[in-house]
Amino acid sequence: MPPAVRHSPPESTPAHVGALPAAWYFDDETLQVELRRLFDSGPSYAGHEALVRRAGDFAALTGEHEGQVLVRDAEGVARLVSNVCRHRQAELVSGRGRTKRLVCPMHNWAYDLAGKHVAAPHFDQLPCLDLATSPLQRWNGLVLAGPGDAAADLAPVAKWPELAAGADYDLVRVDDEVIDLNWKLFMEVFLEDYHVGVVHPGFRNFVDVRQLDAEPDTVRGERFFAENVGVNWPLVKAGSPTFARFQELLLDASRGHKPPYGAVWLAYFPNMLLEWYPYTFVASTYWPRTARETVVRAEVYMDRRIVDERQDLVEATLAVLDEVTQEDLNVCYALSRGREAVWRRGGQESPGPYHQPMEQGLEQFHRWIRNSLG
Ligand code: FES
Ligand SMILES: [Fe+2]
Repeated sequence: MPPAVRHSPPESTPAHVGALPAAWYFDDETLQVELRRLFDSGPSYAGHEALVRRAGDFAALTGEHEGQVLVRDAEGVARLVSNVCRHRQAELVSGRGRTKRLVCPMHNWAYDLAGKHVAAPHFDQLPCLDLATSPLQRWNGLVLAGPGDAAADLAPVAKWPELAAGADYDLVRVDDEVIDLNWKLFMEVFLEDYHVGVVHPGFRNFVDVRQLDAEPDTVRGERFFAENVGVNWPLVKAGSPTFARFQELLLDASRGHKPPYGAVWLAYFPNMLLEWYPYTFVASTYWPRTARETVVRAEVYMDRRIVDERQDLVEATLAVLDEVTQEDLNVCYALSRGREAVWRRGGQESPGPYHQPMEQGLEQFHRWIRNSLG
């Protein structure tokens, strides 16, 4: 016999006051306040050290850092410099590559990799218009711009040896997309485990979902929520053909050893999602263009040895990431449609309580937003 279900107290009890009003997912005035109070108040992800591994490497950025380029200068220092020429403001470089100088494609003004203006053809005197540079901070291989102190924010995560191991990563793919959804939806779906058993048939068999409901290994700070989820070991029958292939190759590459973790998730508020999977690191950022439109950038890195020796596992890993991402995206759209309907009919229906512990990350995100917006 199923256990008896206890009904919650009537609506408007404090159990669910933390969820955000439906209007906040569609309203551009709310977004303007979010940009000032949430986005401008802390660090923002610019890239991973591995994006510009060698002196001379550059990577033009998108999303939040559109118009800036991450470079590694001749001294080996990673820098974030403006990607806009000081002459007539043309874009200097696109994509990734290697160079000694940033040379404008229009009239060939040139800048060194620290942004210093070094050439202006046909001018008698060099106008000395350097490129603007932004100070950077580093945390565990990540390169971050903006105010605040990432090392202080994320200090509680330092106890997890999985992150401190500092794997030698190579970039394997960058996805850039503009998606017609509010930026918070991506963070919200990532921040709760409640949907994993329902929405992700492949992933739910790979990780230890009992841990999610019982004793999740979590750590949090004011601006982040992190979770460490074990592998369902020994590996059971995969829940999807994509995961079957991935699990088989993973076992082969690790010579049958249990991976140290199934997933380590770190949501760094407001808009950074950092994920570690066996041999893999994914950095995703969500940059709002409007309340209903978000630039999504996802960088996938994998252990360099795997990239060199096991292209089959690289492809299988990308396939499972794509599968899980698509499943999450479907849920994001469902949430957006539902909340838009609520908003259009007056927004009076309040959302339900948070499941503990499976929605604790979501609850913290909502609380942080409410507190920050005052
Ligand atoms: S616009 Fe760059 S050199 Fe003229
Ligand atoms: Fe998910």
